[in-house]
Amino acid sequence: MADWSDFIQQIKSQNDIVDVIGSYLELRRSGANFMARCPFHGEKTPSFNVNRNMQIYKCFGCGESGDVIKFVEKYESCSFTEACEILAKRAGIPMPQTSSNRDDAQFRERKKKRDLYLAICRETARFYYRAYYSDVGKVAREYIAKRGFDEATVKKFGIGYSPDGTSLADHLKGKGYNAEDCVACGVLQKTTRGNLDALNRRLVIPIFNMQGQVIAFGGRGLDEYTISRGKYKNTSETPLFTKKDNLFAINIAKEQKQQTALPHLVVVEGYMDVIAMYQAGFKGAVASMGTSLTEQQAKWLSRLADTVYICYDGDAAGQKATVRGMDILDRAGLEVRVMTVPEKLDPDEYIKKYGGEAFEKLIEQAMPLPDYKLQLLERAFPINSSDASQRNNALPKYVKGALTMLKSLDDVRQARYITQVSLKTGYSEDFLRRKLSENEEELPQIFGEELSQEEKAKYFVAACVLRGEDYASLEEKPICNSAFLSALYDYLLDCLSNGDKPSVDMMYTVCPDASPEQYGKILDVNLSAERREVNERYFAECKRLITVEKLKRKREELMQKIKENPDDAELLAQLGELSRKITNAN
Ligand code: CTP
Ligand code: MN
Repeated sequence: MADWSDFIQQIKSQNDIVDVIGSYLELRRSGANFMARCPFHGEKTPSFNVNRNMQIYKCFGCGESGDVIKFVEKYESCSFTEACEILAKRAGIPMPQTSSNRDDAQFRERKKKRDLYLAICRETARFYYRAYYSDVGKVAREYIAKRGFDEATVKKFGIGYSPDGTSLADHLKGKGYNAEDCVACGVLQKTTRGNLDALNRRLVIPIFNMQGQVIAFGGRGLDEYTISRGKYKNTSETPLFTKKDNLFAINIAKEQKQQTALPHLVVVEGYMDVIAMYQAGFKGAVASMGTSLTEQQAKWLSRLADTVYICYDGDAAGQKATVRGMDILDRAGLEVRVMTVPEKLDPDEYIKKYGGEAFEKLIEQAMPLPDYKLQLLERAFPINSSDASQRNNALPKYVKGALTMLKSLDDVRQARYITQVSLKTGYSEDFLRRKLSENEEELPQIFGEELSQEEKAKYFVAACVLRGEDYASLEEKPICNSAFLSALYDYLLDCLSNGDKPSVDMMYTVCPDASPEQYGKILDVNLSAERREVNERYFAECKRLITVEKLKRKREELMQKIKENPDDAELLAQLGELSRKITNAN
């Protein structure tokens, strides 16, 4: 196995920085150096400098600097390893083995399938695109015209049309693709009448990944019959695509960032919203396709911008799942602002009715996430109602909610919002501060003093999941120091992956040798309705503790490995990534 530090040297020596950057940007010679307009911040006059002798770049405008690998990492919005891969490919150097590209048969097989599925999706997109411009596509073209989208927009998004249920299957067969593979990547659907086009007679919107490859499709019904079977139909979950891990138009946002540096991103719900915004000049819009935001999506977004505007329909915006999604973005280090579109219009409708400038105003008026949460609270608990008894009723509930919100903030923002809540409610800042620290004490006492915070967290999380609390999600097994917790978590994760509801009775079956005290630690957790809010908050905190503990353990292991292989660049990159994760989680 080639050594990583040799490999890094090799890709650097065979990828001249001027050639590589020159393939992305227009470079002008200026003395011994080369200059360009900086791709990492918007600018009119070039202050981006590339030095061939030193093989580095530096922007005197924004300060961004580094070597050829760092440039690719930033420009392609990808990880260190992916940047190395791109450069290795460019120079025809084989990648060294890593845990993610093991040169075994199984890996090669998966990679081959993936390439095949990508080819099928690509061919399918072309087929739909051609159909859109053919005679049968007239109905789609008319629909697009009616919605006010122009030719350039249609081309940009690669919009197409599915002419019927069978032509696509014939076409793909003619190209030599077998039906099973076409079903596996979601473009054909197995039915009793054979393998049919999944998007039969729909307008087709291709979905691309960050690398600009087609991985799935959304299809909008155009006639009443089709719409009755779902206004939209999307490619189901496939090896290439899961709705919750992707964002529609992320490829366009990335491209935009490469051209002019994005000021911010706007997350909307629907395909058509993104398309309408693009046409109106808002090129950093992406759609979550009707699901609530996930950590994976937060990762994509944070590679492209620091600020994210959320622009959801009135109904969706205030929902618990949506707010939770915004918290995920917040925790990923993004500055989150929430837009409100009047008259229950979606961005597409609003732009049609009032124009792009009016929409720009909505962006300017967007609220920081904490303000938005306070606004939601006030809507639920009208502390400014003209009715005194309603007001008095609302106040304690509002304060309780506000405390929950304050709890989630870092110190600086907390100080600011404590003042705000104090002004709004008339409670003194001192009182609010006291309440905040009281809440912190409230839960851990359940388990007595002998356990560490992390151990308490593990019992608490297990209790919530086992007893079916609706906010209690579980993705991974904590570090378990007791056979009891270990068996219990195996059982819980097993249930969740099968979609089964865990049962408290099963605890005694899967962990038969535990002591009454151990069972008690699960059963004694007070999950009564009036504690729900506190518990939900504490649950999130417990999961954070558990995650941090695991990350720290991983870091220890990695440090050990680095001690043994001090020159391994990949290990160092992993360490950097881990440390970043730990900082974020803290
Ligand atoms: N969606 C879906 N399946 C549906 C309805 C909606 O997958 N049956 C997803 C689509 O990604 C859609 C998004 O949720 O774009 C938002 O839904 P909606 O607001 O109803 O769609 P719009 O984008 O506004 O579509 P249109 O303007 O064409 O009605
Ligand atoms: Mn719409």
